[in-house]
Amino acid sequence: MKVRLLGVGMGPQHVTVEVARALRSCDYVVAASKSDNDELLAIRQAICEEYGVELVAVPDPMRDRDPGDYPATVAAWHDARAAAYAEVIRERAGTAAFLVWGDPSLYDSTIRVVGRVAESVGADWDVLPGVSAPSLLAARHRIVLHEVGQPVHITSPRRLPEALAQDETNIVVMLGNEADLTALVALGEWSIWWGANLGTGSEELVSGQVADVLADLVAARARAKQAAGWVMDVHLLRAPA
Ligand SMILES: C[S@@+](CC[C@H](N)C(=O)[O-])C[C@H]1O[C@@H](n2cnc3c(N)ncnc32)[C@H](O)[C@@H]1O
Repeated sequence: MKVRLLGVGMGPQHVTVEVARALRSCDYVVAASKSDNDELLAIRQAICEEYGVELVAVPDPMRDRDPGDYPATVAAWHDARAAAYAEVIRERAGTAAFLVWGDPSLYDSTIRVVGRVAESVGADWDVLPGVSAPSLLAARHRIVLHEVGQPVHITSPRRLPEALAQDETNIVVMLGNEADLTALVALGEWSIWWGANLGTGSEELVSGQVADVLADLVAARARAKQAAGWVMDVHLLRAPA
């Protein structure tokens, strides 16, 4: 038994030669199907069709989106996912692949969950990288994520206040929603490079000083959501010099 975790970037156009080879040689692909975001399942389906691999959709366990105890709730959700995946892998044997949106190293639990499953069922496992949302954001805006020799901090809106308190001045923010975007009004002097639904037909890009572009950002986010039925956005914030 073998399990492969394949980063597929933001869609079929980002499947690397290495990942394509892995896809052709695996027996089936396992994918979580979520009731609220099945467009991403559809993209996985398109990738499987392109490489002639069967897709096995596993219903994603329900997750409490507003829990009192966040770490315990995430751990319980990971356990439930792991149990569902282990059942499929044991039953089918052969080589299973999991397609990870973007790159598996960033804000994705597949390595934690599936790595543990693979070890528990005695399967070898490996990870192949993909194009992440921050990489694509930087490419679209034709920027480096940090100034010469400077660090870049990657975080979520939930922890942005902490990053600001630590005097981080160059911050990539992922996992945000519309309210998180409007809250940026407090950083009016900062520069922002923002992108939604990158790599898809509903891609939106905005950049400028936060105070000048905030209304455009909110409108562009709504457009992306209207066009695709879902929206994911990422941005880089840089403090004034
Ligand atoms: C669960 S994380 C997955 C990140 C992914 N592993 C990566 O490498 O980018 C989801 C977050 O990534 C960002 N993201 C993913 N896909 C995106 C896209 N096509 N356009 C803009 N942001 C995206 C958003 O911040 C979103 O909330």
